[in-house]
Amino acid sequence: MAAPPQRHLNSRRHLVVLFFVFAVGQLVNTARAQNRTSNATTDPAEVKLSDCVRLLLFYRRVYALDVVGRIPDELWNLTYLDKLNLSQNYLTGPLSASIGNLVRMQYIAFGTNNFSGPLPLELGNLTRLTQIYFDSAGVSGPIPASFARLRGLERVWASDNELTGHIPDYIGSWSSLIQLRFQGNSFQGRIPPSFSNLTALSDLRISDISNGSSSLDFLENMTSLATLFLGNNRLTGTLPSQISPSLRAM
Ligand SMILES: *[C@@H]1O[C@H](CO)[C@@H](O)[C@H](O)[C@H]1NC(C)=O
Ligand SMILES: *[C@@H]1O[C@H](CO)[C@@H](O)[C@H](O)[C@H]1NC(C)=O
Ligand SMILES: *[C@@H]1O[C@H](CO)[C@@H](O)[C@H](O)[C@H]1NC(C)=O
Ligand SMILES: *[C@@H]1O[C@H](CO)[C@@H](O)[C@H](O)[C@H]1NC(C)=O
Ligand SMILES: *[C@@H]1O[C@H](CO)[C@@H](O)[C@H](O)[C@H]1NC(C)=O
Ligand SMILES: *[C@@H]1O[C@H](CO)[C@@H](O)[C@H](O)[C@H]1NC(C)=O
Ligand SMILES: *[C@@H]1O[C@H](CO)[C@@H](O)[C@H](O)[C@H]1NC(C)=O
Ligand SMILES: *[C@@H]1O[C@H](CO)[C@@H](O)[C@H](O)[C@H]1NC(C)=O
Ligand SMILES: *[C@@H]1O[C@H](CO)[C@@H](O)[C@H](O)[C@H]1NC(C)=O
Repeated sequence: MAAPPQRHLNSRRHLVVLFFVFAVGQLVNTARAQNRTSNATTDPAEVKLSDCVRLLLFYRRVYALDVVGRIPDELWNLTYLDKLNLSQNYLTGPLSASIGNLVRMQYIAFGTNNFSGPLPLELGNLTRLTQIYFDSAGVSGPIPASFARLRGLERVWASDNELTGHIPDYIGSWSSLIQLRFQGNSFQGRIPPSFSNLTALSDLRISDISNGSSSLDFLENMTSLATLFLGNNRLTGTLPSQISPSLRAM
């Protein structure tokens, strides 16, 4: 019975840290916005600071209710948010479809939590996303088809969830992708040949695909690869000779 108090303290600290990071970020954004729009009729500082206070109240409420808790619905109303880090808490429940309200989001992290259920289709509405981090988040099921719209993604960490189905072909059209981490899921089938398009990739990690063998040909033009991990998959072929010198040295 020693664990729960410690968990409360850790979570509380994380939430407080989260808030301060958020608040400082908002103040910087506010200062920038004021610079840009010195003539604006609404004062951006006023809007954003009041929202900071509201957000602080939400997190206090989460803590007061129970740190092993659900995300308060109010969060999904803060539609101006462009960065959100909910990682390393004890958040539970399914991720709300309302996450799709946060259309300005560029960076979202919700890894190391205890969520359940699928990735909401509505995440595919966040077309400005460049970074999404959800390692060990507790989510399950296939990657939604709506994710095909997330063409600006540069960094995707999705390891250690219960993701199933095929790795979608459309990931080959996320042409800005630099990091892709898909280890420790329950994917089936081959690594799509469309991955050959991902020539900006420097970090690719995929493991534990349960069936379906993949050729390594898709690696041929990935001249920026510095980290490659393809353990516990059924792979055929040899590493292409064109592959990046840094990788060949490994
Ligand atoms: C606001 O603009 C001034 C002058 O253009 C610049 O020196 C300052 O760094 C800017 N502040 C922010 C927060 O961008
Ligand atoms: C600010 O408003 C004044 C009066 O409406 C206008 O003349 C001026 O050009 C505006 N400045 C900027 C930077 O928009
Ligand atoms: C979110 O905003 C809508 C529209 O302003 C409002 O009706 C709703 O009650 C808000 N939800 C929460 C949980 O605050
Ligand atoms: C998010 O916040 C956690 C906890 O404060 C931190 O360790 C992590 O580096 C942050 N970023 C990401 C992408 O998780
Ligand atoms: C996460 O959820 C599972 C099942 O719902 C539960 O057994 C486990 O104790 C939870 N872990 C934490 C850290 O809350
Ligand atoms: C958000 O995504 C869902 C599912 O992909 C879609 O049905 C809905 O129309 C989208 N909403 C907006 C505002 O784009
Ligand atoms: C993988 O196995 C499942 C059943 O176990 C099957 O439905 C699926 O078609 C297989 N996929 C491939 C690519 O062989
Ligand atoms: C590769 O990228 C090109 C240009 O962006 C696109 O036309 C093509 O369909 C992509 N191929 C695959 C297999 O995704
Ligand atoms: C790599 O690029 C060359 C030259 O553009 C192209 O001919 C070849 O098909 C590409 N390899 C793969 C696996 O797509």
